[in-house]
Amino acid sequence: MDYKAGAIAHSNIALIKYWGKRNSHNNLPAVGSISLTLKELFTQTQVCFNEAIAQDILFLNGDRASAAMEERVSKFLDIVRFKSGIKYSAEIKSHNNFPTGAGLASSASAFAALALAASSAAEISLSPAQLSELARCGSGSAARSIYGGFVEMKVGKKSNGSDSFAVRLADKDYWDIVLLIVITADTEKDIGSTQGMNHTELSSPYYGQWIKTSSDDLKEMRSAIKDKDFVKLGELTEYSCLKMHALCFSARPALIYWNDLTFQLIHLVRDIRKSGIPVYFTIDAGPQVKILTLPQHVGYLRDTIKEISGINRIIETTLGPDAQVIGVMR
Ligand code: PMV
Repeated sequence: MDYKAGAIAHSNIALIKYWGKRNSHNNLPAVGSISLTLKELFTQTQVCFNEAIAQDILFLNGDRASAAMEERVSKFLDIVRFKSGIKYSAEIKSHNNFPTGAGLASSASAFAALALAASSAAEISLSPAQLSELARCGSGSAARSIYGGFVEMKVGKKSNGSDSFAVRLADKDYWDIVLLIVITADTEKDIGSTQGMNHTELSSPYYGQWIKTSSDDLKEMRSAIKDKDFVKLGELTEYSCLKMHALCFSARPALIYWNDLTFQLIHLVRDIRKSGIPVYFTIDAGPQVKILTLPQHVGYLRDTIKEISGINRIIETTLGPDAQVIGVMR
């Protein structure tokens, strides 16, 4: 008998960044975070547990995934097998509609979709908080992709992680914010976020301060969202982004995720802002620059950004929905 289900989950971008783990074993974050779920970037995943399948096998965008990726997914499915009592291996087919591993949070949408598809296939019914907790075991940022709109990941205190899950702050229709994702390179990053976080914790003299100042940033961002104060939201977003990258720069050896275009875009955004347009940037563990603005400024910004030579592509997105179960893919 087949235990089969499919799900879709959207990627997200952190406004207040998550960087650092309080426990690597069950992937518990050292700080909370706040994100926006992204409409145009998503992963669709189908999971099929079947007794005839000898070992877990993963296809990503139609091709067999690397052994390392399969192992990561297999470990994740062990949690679902443990919770459900299913003993079978699974075939997993996953499609991203955007570049994988290039700082566009493909692991966020991927593990959120996998958590929902695998738990539905295994017929275990989980509350949104439990689903978010499960997704977190695959990737910290995936816990946030269970919800659409504005989302907060709670740092939690418990060692078993049962209070480390995301909650919704506001839904996707709450506020018309546009994000322009400027792709400066399509290549995979060299140092993944888990390795980067561990390295930073072990070698940066600023790591303690990063942890200590996190709850104030979260509090301010919650109030910017509540008041729909775009300037405050933008300033805090840049602050948290630069604080995270300053932490990475201060590791030994330094982690530098940016390229020349990343720097050019940072300066461009700051210059445009001086002319009175509300526009702010954020950057994750990769060279892409994500630019936040309001709908009336999108046309001008796109035209101005396109003038920088070497920009590959701009993806425009608004706020995306909750993760959902979908029909099985052919
Ligand atoms: O979820 P991970 O392990 O891929 O870590 C995500 C880290 C950042 O994208 C840099 C920040 C964040 O909060 O999403």
